[in-house]
Amino acid sequence: MLFQDWPEPITRVQTLSESGITSIPERYIKPESQRPTNPISPNKASSNDEDINIPLIDMEHLYGGDERLREAALHRVSEACREWGFFQVVNHRVSHELMKSVREAWREFFNHPLEFKEVYANKPDTYEGYGSRLGVKKGAILDWNDFFFLHYKPCSLRDQSKWPSLPTSLRNMINEYSEEVVKLGGTILELMSINLGLNEDYLLNAFGGESGLGACLRVNFYPKCPQPDLTLGLSSHSDPGGMTILLPDDSVSGLQVRKGEDWITVNHVPGAFIINIADQIQVMSNAIYKSVEHRVIVNPNKERLSLAMFYNPKSDLLIQPAKELVTKDRPALYSPMTFDEYRLYIRTVGPNGKAQLVESSTSQK
Ligand code: OGA
Ligand code: NI
Repeated sequence: MLFQDWPEPITRVQTLSESGITSIPERYIKPESQRPTNPISPNKASSNDEDINIPLIDMEHLYGGDERLREAALHRVSEACREWGFFQVVNHRVSHELMKSVREAWREFFNHPLEFKEVYANKPDTYEGYGSRLGVKKGAILDWNDFFFLHYKPCSLRDQSKWPSLPTSLRNMINEYSEEVVKLGGTILELMSINLGLNEDYLLNAFGGESGLGACLRVNFYPKCPQPDLTLGLSSHSDPGGMTILLPDDSVSGLQVRKGEDWITVNHVPGAFIINIADQIQVMSNAIYKSVEHRVIVNPNKERLSLAMFYNPKSDLLIQPAKELVTKDRPALYSPMTFDEYRLYIRTVGPNGKAQLVESSTSQK
């Protein structure tokens, strides 16, 4: 009942952008403290030094037979999960051709006429389909993006009739791409389990195993914005699920990751995926791994498209810190909660749920 429909008629950001406006509507203007030109630390520009970037992992070293290289790469992954909550991977064995064509096909979808896209318009109860806002607060300040959201796993939630029928290749491509990315996700969960000193299948099992885990795809489309200094493509948030595998735009940057008091703009290596820890792995790891806040800035001259695969635990399993990671010195920082319950919980505390919890738990020390 509560989340049945949107509080106001939906205007597509792409429609606004293409109308040729030179100033953005009031609703998209962020408070000054959140604007991208207002860096948190006054002495640094929010666009970062060239050499500060999220860690880069060559997965060939993890698949390959050289034990020394494997150990070193595992160590780099471990550091990235603890210190950044983010890393990018190359040589991940997902076909570059497929990555390119799925991105192109989605671009084509967003370039179809509005009437066609509106057939897939979403509702706030599930968010499935074509959308332009999160949350149902009347008069809320909005982000500068449109998106398409769909379920790939579990199979019981997969409904291809809710996926775009055009371009004709898209549905097949979503299947093919998602299969590959979910497989990559399984490999990364294994690496994280090993790094945490757990059985290598610990995290996958805690997610409900192959048949139980959830995977949803959010395709973000950030249209050109005439006043990029006043708004954000996505406001600061941490991802609520387990882990996110992001295929960023091949030519436009925009993702910023919080590092202490700074926002670091990610320099994306062509062909890489960006991986980030989300809230549920932060819980399972008892906050050894961090679900870090991130946001997206927009661009006056270029639109940007990204594909975020959210890799989530089965929605009705209790998620809690692994017993092995709870000690006298480090008691459990979170009480058990299902992912379903958590999703309702963050509707009340806002989009930085567990990221905030970690800050308050560390500041209590
Ligand atoms: C997200 C997200 C980043 C991007 O969809 O949750 O953080 O670069 N996307 O689009
Ligand atoms: Ni995100």
